[in-house]
Amino acid sequence: MSISFYDEVGGHETFVRLVDAFYRGVAEDPVLRPMYPEEDLAPAKERLTLFLEQYWGGPSTYSQERGHPRLRMRHAAFHVNPDARDRWLAHMRAAVDELALPPLQDATLWDYLQRAAFAMVNTFEPSGIGPAADGRAATSFPLSPPSPH
Ligand code: HEM
Repeated sequence: MSISFYDEVGGHETFVRLVDAFYRGVAEDPVLRPMYPEEDLAPAKERLTLFLEQYWGGPSTYSQERGHPRLRMRHAAFHVNPDARDRWLAHMRAAVDELALPPLQDATLWDYLQRAAFAMVNTFEPSGIGPAADGRAATSFPLSPPSPH
């Protein structure tokens, strides 16, 4: 029987440490912090921990509680532009560093996080969509022809 990456890196305790360190960075980030709808970051922390644990072969609690991840869809309400992505990744890099994993495990985790973060980008506009944007339209250019007067 092969051991999961989840177990290999130290199981629940490792993912809790990773996500705690990540959210310490987010809490101080002037662009990312306002995107989080809740005053308290603890529920968001819990969701990311459960998701990552499930992804890497740990318990499937995330899907039991939240259903299919559909991460692109769940991020559609947020303004994930390259700046947000790079900030997200910078906090994640610092968090992965804190784990001080062996090089191969570090590279495996980091490669995934980078690909996932690039895949989550949903706009190249500097600002404009999502709850942090005071309800402005989802895009600044028309996606349908102007209606006839
Ligand atoms: C690229 C930049 C990203 C930004 C700015 C961002 C931002 C956010 C925000 C504002 C939320 C809502 C907080 C909540 O209610 O949970 C959220 C949720 C979440 N994000 Fe991200 N995210 C990014 C990338 C990622 C990546 C790469 C992953 C996975 C590897 C991820 C996984 C999640 C998960 C699992 C949730 C909770 C979904 C749910 O069950 O509702 N995010 N993200």
